[in-house]
Amino acid sequence: MTFYITTAISYVNGAPHLGHAYEAITTDVIARHMRQRDPDVFFLTGTDEHGEPVADAARDLGVEPQQLADENAARFREMVRELNVSNDFFIRTTDEEHGRLVQQVLQRVHDNGYTHKGLYEGWYCPRCADFKVENEILDGNRCPIHFIELIRELEENWFFELSRFQDRLEQLFDDHRSFVMPLARYNEARAFIDSGLQDISLSRARMHWGVPVPWDPSHVFYVWFDALLNYYTALGYARPDEDLRDRFWPATFHIIGKDILKFHTVFWPAMLMAAELPVPEHVFVHGFLLGADGRKMSKSLGNVLDPADVLDSYGVDALRYYLVRDVPFGSDGAVGIDGARARYESELANEYGNLASRTIAMIRRYNDGRIPGADTDPELRDEFEGLVGEVIELIDAAEITAALDRIWQRVRRANRYVEERAPWQLAKDPKAHGELHRVLASLAEAVRVLSVLLSPYVPEGAAKLLDALGSPDLSLAGAEFAQRTLARPVAELAPLYPKR
Ligand code: MSP
Repeated sequence: MTFYITTAISYVNGAPHLGHAYEAITTDVIARHMRQRDPDVFFLTGTDEHGEPVADAARDLGVEPQQLADENAARFREMVRELNVSNDFFIRTTDEEHGRLVQQVLQRVHDNGYTHKGLYEGWYCPRCADFKVENEILDGNRCPIHFIELIRELEENWFFELSRFQDRLEQLFDDHRSFVMPLARYNEARAFIDSGLQDISLSRARMHWGVPVPWDPSHVFYVWFDALLNYYTALGYARPDEDLRDRFWPATFHIIGKDILKFHTVFWPAMLMAAELPVPEHVFVHGFLLGADGRKMSKSLGNVLDPADVLDSYGVDALRYYLVRDVPFGSDGAVGIDGARARYESELANEYGNLASRTIAMIRRYNDGRIPGADTDPELRDEFEGLVGEVIELIDAAEITAALDRIWQRVRRANRYVEERAPWQLAKDPKAHGELHRVLASLAEAVRVLSVLLSPYVPEGAAKLLDALGSPDLSLAGAEFAQRTLARPVAELAPLYPKR
């Protein structure tokens, strides 16, 4: 079984912000979890570098678009690294191989007769690079996302005959209820289709920053088709010695934000059908991180929380944990540094970190660092019964927040277990040593299982704990709560999440 997951690719008109970080982190949680089940995972992220969003920003700065793209793509790459994101490839749509493959696929669409030349007249948002249809336009001809005034466009373009895919898209949606997730987004996409599909621009005549149309080189492809194709083209050249398209196409999951639903759930499957390529299995649509003012975080609105602030103060696990835990995946959520601090202190440090430290310290103090060979306590074992299966089922539906919640219930349960059994009391009573060994063995197993399950969320802390236990195996097959005897004594463990 293979599993191919992608983020949207980010515009390089500016520096990365928390919204980009959020998407990279949440997608990484799923990718890391899937690798724990089956190693044949491919995880793609990257940058979207053509079209007005980048050309206009470059013009305003007085630099060439390529220069702006190079500078900002480097920052996105760096962000992904700092976030501990485990992508297998980073695509840039200015990669030569990408452009060549875009031309190949769209030439096929043209050869298959799904294009025509025509006059486009309508409203266009240069920030979204989106031709808006009637019901997407705010009063005063404004963009519903950026609130800027739309531009009246009148130009001769190549069109993609989207209207011819009305029936096939309806069929796709009827047959695959989980094509778009969650359900509210499925309904939204379905309503867009049901309102009647119109042909859309495939090329731009006045824009030069893009991939040339091979059958009419005075045009470049409309940036969205160039961009969407990244998911497919990347597999064609990510590995010099292997064409990964046979192995990984179609994608299992595209993870995207709600502002780009129409492109991914309507235009994209139609384009693939026109090119006779299989369509992805699922598009999961997450919500927006909102600024303190409750509005979309965006440079133009000036309400962006810098991820560096959380990273510098609390570290990468804290940012990953906070965003996934506080914002139910699929919904919007307002975020800020105070919330991040609270989650760090009360949960990462006081609950998981403390459980880990106490467990290791007690094994060292009361049993010379050896995890006792005693049977684990059925009471705690029962609490973990079925947990791995629950997590698997939730993450199959991209429910990463709900899965984290289930795991965290057991972190709390294990902490209560420490209080109830009070190993420090048992240690004072020689007659209670059998019980002490059982409690220590159970706690060692609990923190091991918890760390394996938490590792997609907090890879740094989980790895430190598993290292101290001498049990680095991350596979979910080995994550059932059982009795485990480890060869070497546990190592000293510095606080996973120290007080700041
Ligand atoms: N370049 C297009 C995507 C092309 S995919 C073939 C684009 N770029 S973007 O930089 O504007 O956004 C990249 C992703 O980040 C999108 O999925 C978008 O929804 C997401 N986010 C941008 N701001 C966001 C928040 N404030 N919160 C959560 N995610 C948001 O769109």
